[in-house]
Amino acid sequence: MDARTGGSSAYPLTNHSTARALVTMIDNPLDALPPAVFKEPVVFTRQMGNLKVYLSDPTLIHETLVKNADKLTKGDQVRRMLGPALGEGLLTADGQHWKWQRQSVASAFRHDKLLDLLPAMITAAEETKDRWLRQAGTPLDIGHEMMRTTFDIIVQTMLSGGHGIDVARVEKSISDYLDPSGWTFALSTIGAPDWVPFPGRSKARAAVTFLRSSLAAVIAARRRSGEENHDLVSMLLSASDPETGRTMTDDEIVDNLMTFITAGHETTALGLAWTFHLLALHPAEEEKVMEEIGRVTGGEPVRPDHVAKLTYLKQVFSEAMRLFPPAPIITRTATNAFTLDRYLIPAGTVFFIPIYAVHHRAELWPEPERFDPTRFDPEPARARHRYAYMPFGAGPRVCIGNAFALMEAVAVLAVLLQTYRLTDRGTAPPKPVMKVTLRPRPPLIMRLDRRAAQG
Ligand code: HEM
Repeated sequence: MDARTGGSSAYPLTNHSTARALVTMIDNPLDALPPAVFKEPVVFTRQMGNLKVYLSDPTLIHETLVKNADKLTKGDQVRRMLGPALGEGLLTADGQHWKWQRQSVASAFRHDKLLDLLPAMITAAEETKDRWLRQAGTPLDIGHEMMRTTFDIIVQTMLSGGHGIDVARVEKSISDYLDPSGWTFALSTIGAPDWVPFPGRSKARAAVTFLRSSLAAVIAARRRSGEENHDLVSMLLSASDPETGRTMTDDEIVDNLMTFITAGHETTALGLAWTFHLLALHPAEEEKVMEEIGRVTGGEPVRPDHVAKLTYLKQVFSEAMRLFPPAPIITRTATNAFTLDRYLIPAGTVFFIPIYAVHHRAELWPEPERFDPTRFDPEPARARHRYAYMPFGAGPRVCIGNAFALMEAVAVLAVLLQTYRLTDRGTAPPKPVMKVTLRPRPPLIMRLDRRAAQG
């Protein structure tokens, strides 16, 4: 027992073979989770002498991510995986540098501002709908299709347009960057130095160079034109730290544009792709959704005021994110010691919050593998612990785009489902594989058919 904190350092360590876990982690960090995280509230392991704590219990997650947020940083894992691409942007920064960036952009995500963005979301979905007219009857990669749609949405809403950014190359570059992320996850877990090479590293570096230089060109063009678009770029150009009065350098603005573009489209796209897959497997649910869309829109094209009324569709998307959370594991490192439950958590401890495991725990979710959107009916949702469901994280670092994503997802689903029926054409059930985000392997190939006109 530690006299200062009252916590014990006698952790019930779970034996977790480092060598085997590392090999698995390179391919899919989800498979390398200690199996106990699906049953136990907390799992302690020691890897290479360092204490690692896996939290699957909502109360302990609340204690850690919310109540002790000031004693945590994003840590080495996040810095190594995302730092080369996102620098010290909002997602990766810590302390005061994080705080002033969050304050600078917070107003862009207020509810009234988001409502102004809904027409652009619907337009992008309609463009996808029109593009698909030529593809009816053919198989398509729904993940790839959704990346295009959500990419259009993020650049329209946050950058006032694509500025000639090559979407296909951006998508490829993001994949090239994320592909070897299992290696960075594994190497930082064993504390290997940054210079250790791994397969895919030079491709990933080339991808980052392309992505960052495309965005630097957007900023340079904006500075030259002096245009005032009231978008994220303008906000970042005019932001100033209340403590120091300094403004952001171009490099810092690139960090944030990279952050918003990647965090803001890839996650939602995957949530949407998994939703289409689940609806194809559950025709009765699809029918309920179609009934709702028909009732709310009266068979007219989807309008901004319809979106908030599509409550069951939102539940369907929420349930898809329970089964397949787009950000399946988040990590933190303790900068100061604190007591959690009855344990002393020393500074340097690495926390893993396996959101995927929390969402699949039978104690929290009866029949956890069953797709059941009624879990998000108001009553069961109220009765559940708030942190039993956390696709957007928790505490001060909760996703800033959370309401944006929900609005966007419902709008895109409604527009596309109204016209098309998607059926699963994959030959094998897709496996969720973590490449920072949760991707299907093999990709979700679906067949597209036009629905008979709805009355
Ligand atoms: C379904 C879609 C989305 C999911 C599942 C998701 C998930 C998450 C999660 C779990 C975090 C917290 C990470 C952590 O605690 O380490 C996060 C943070 C963040 N997300 Fe999202 N996100 C989504 C959509 C978006 C969108 C649309 C945007 C922007 C328009 C966005 C921008 C961000 C940013 C900037 C952060 C960092 C916030 C901070 O640290 O202050 N996300 N997201």
